[in-house]
Amino acid sequence: MAQNWSKSSWRNKPALQMPDYADKEALAAVEARLASFPPLVFAGEARDLRQELARVASGDAFLLQGGDCAESFAEHGADNIRDFFRVFLQMAVVMTFGASKPVVKVGRIAGQFAKPRSSNTETQGDVTLPSYRGDVVNEIAFTPEARIPNPERQINAYRQSAATLNLLRAFAQGGYANLNHVHEWTLDFVRNSPQAEKYAELSDRITETLDFMKAVGMDPQNNSKLRETDFYTSHEALLLGYEEALTREDSITGEPYATSGHMIWIGDRTRQPDHAHVEYCRGVKNPIGLKCGPSTTPEGLLELIDILSPANEPGRLTLIARFGHDKVEEHLPQLIRAVEREGRNVIWSCDPMHGNTISAGGYKTRPFERVMSEVDRFFDVHQAEGTIAGGVHVEMTGKDVTECTGGARAISDDDLASRYHTHCDPRLNADQSLELAFLVSDRLKRTKNGLHAQEQAA
Ligand code: PEP
Ligand code: CO
Repeated sequence: MAQNWSKSSWRNKPALQMPDYADKEALAAVEARLASFPPLVFAGEARDLRQELARVASGDAFLLQGGDCAESFAEHGADNIRDFFRVFLQMAVVMTFGASKPVVKVGRIAGQFAKPRSSNTETQGDVTLPSYRGDVVNEIAFTPEARIPNPERQINAYRQSAATLNLLRAFAQGGYANLNHVHEWTLDFVRNSPQAEKYAELSDRITETLDFMKAVGMDPQNNSKLRETDFYTSHEALLLGYEEALTREDSITGEPYATSGHMIWIGDRTRQPDHAHVEYCRGVKNPIGLKCGPSTTPEGLLELIDILSPANEPGRLTLIARFGHDKVEEHLPQLIRAVEREGRNVIWSCDPMHGNTISAGGYKTRPFERVMSEVDRFFDVHQAEGTIAGGVHVEMTGKDVTECTGGARAISDDDLASRYHTHCDPRLNADQSLELAFLVSDRLKRTKNGLHAQEQAA
């Protein structure tokens, strides 16, 4: 029997990657205030997402999850949110077309503020300071004062999440998601891409499809499905005091939900089965993500699945594989086989970012061809195993940053300095994000055709 869970039972377990606040009273006061604030999302929405993810688990939909590595207070503005949302919608349309399936859209946004770090300290020259842990914890500036964890920042993160979510809801339901507009933006991207011919076939087919739909009287003016969309939020549930304060009982079912976002995930560094992060996540009813890096073993994974998804409900658990482009074949097949053998119901999603970080000229970067290659190999492995490649999880922005090298408009090591804005890991820029979407779309189309061939043969 699992031990009793409460929203604070994580406090009895070891917790890695959490800040050490000097003023415990101030921290408790902030948490009490947060606990009195309205929820950011409500339980019914998280349940809807779980239902949509159940369709991903059965292969009837595809998951697109993405956004900043770390949201920041400094970059909080309407333009950033709008540009992210625009590219995200474009990616979703391109993928929907390839897959001929709905794409479930989950942003790493409106709450993605806390960061696990590989080292507790950062050294510049002969100065060593505590690491930056995300804007919800401390400041990125390299000074001793800036790096002191300040609980008051949690209030700011909550307020920023609320404002971001408000704008996203307006965009999603207020006409910004109009399919014709989204496709016009993609045509612009294709026209301006050095590899235009590579993308022209698919974008032309979308144009024809939209023209056809219009001809038969289906257009955004008379069909709300063509001008509105469902959009969900997600973040790493790392700062557990914040999460606890926003954990609420659903008035309909009486069950606990994290109301800080629709979906939360456990990072690769904090997935110890007997530790605090797993303890917190097992008890809330939201869809949960679990990052799976190279140290994940088949037995360890099955143990975590049993803890996090004891009822084995489809849509509850998404395994986010992040091995590195050259390690997918080494790790993924054995994990898939263990899950299949034990009949566990999970979604497999591919994070092609976190296993492909290198450093170049003093910058953390990710070569775009490795990102693309990890996605390709993820699909290859699922094809070979006869299982479902359910989604992708990317760090991206709608801006024209220079953080990941390569891409059609090739960014070199020397270019990194020009627009390197991320507060943590390097993100795909708008063009690279769309290029990735075209690759995924193509793989989804091939999977679909491959499956049809098998079905016909059967
Ligand atoms: C992240 O998603 O930003 C992250 C830190 O990932 P991981 O836990 O997989 O390293
Ligand atoms: Co990251």
